[in-house]
Amino acid sequence: MSGGWNASLYDGSHGFVAQYGRALVPLLEPRAGERILDVGCGTGQLTAEIAESGARVVGIDASPAMVAQAREKYPSLEFVTGSVCEMEYAEEFDALFSNAVLHWVKPPEVAARAMARALKPGGRLVVEFGGRGNVAGLVEAAYGALRRLGIAEPEGLNPWYYPSVGEYTALLEASGIEVTLAMLFERPTPLQEGEAGIAAWFRMFGGALMAPLHAEQAAEFLRLVPETAPAHLRREGGWTADYWRLRVVGRRNGPKTGACPT
Ligand code: BEZ
Repeated sequence: MSGGWNASLYDGSHGFVAQYGRALVPLLEPRAGERILDVGCGTGQLTAEIAESGARVVGIDASPAMVAQAREKYPSLEFVTGSVCEMEYAEEFDALFSNAVLHWVKPPEVAARAMARALKPGGRLVVEFGGRGNVAGLVEAAYGALRRLGIAEPEGLNPWYYPSVGEYTALLEASGIEVTLAMLFERPTPLQEGEAGIAAWFRMFGGALMAPLHAEQAAEFLRLVPETAPAHLRREGGWTADYWRLRVVGRRNGPKTGACPT
């Protein structure tokens, strides 16, 4: 994740991120003594769950605020501030895990190479993030509100990377990962806080879309998004986010020794 996050808000109103990610941990099959890297660990909830296996887990996140909160919550675990693309780990980890982060990370091919390089040959990779079509309704709401505020080409503000199964598996394979499972699935996610839930989601995650707005316009944007959101996102008493998850499991291939993919 990038900097500028409100770590307390993330843990509070948006705790569902880690809750859903919990389903991913059994796919990782962490074992005692293994060294595991949690990429984009946020405030460390899933890092701690993985560590319960007895594995030695390192959580890395680009946000100093997230890492500070993770260290406070789990002082016995190791957390590092750093971006995925700039990781310099080489053949150090038995497995790599990442939940709800890689849609923020560009360029994706640099991230994929850095993740592959971090793994020992044969090391396992389990990642899940937003895939093709993710939050398309929320994005439509944002573009509608931005156009009403006079932003002509709001598409240019979209910070996210939502690849298809074919696109992402090809990218991983080119980085030296053999993909053993890949799936894109719909995961409608009820937003908290009733009617205000959609504005709360943009307040937490929509910083890039609101970047050109001054304070009054940003307040107007948050007032407008419920009006511009497509009707299918409405549920009784609130909103549902149209999340689509891309889940990929793989393994680093290549010789036991030798050059890392660059
Ligand atoms: C996601 O987890 O899919 C997501 C979260 C925040 C912003 C965009 C997508």
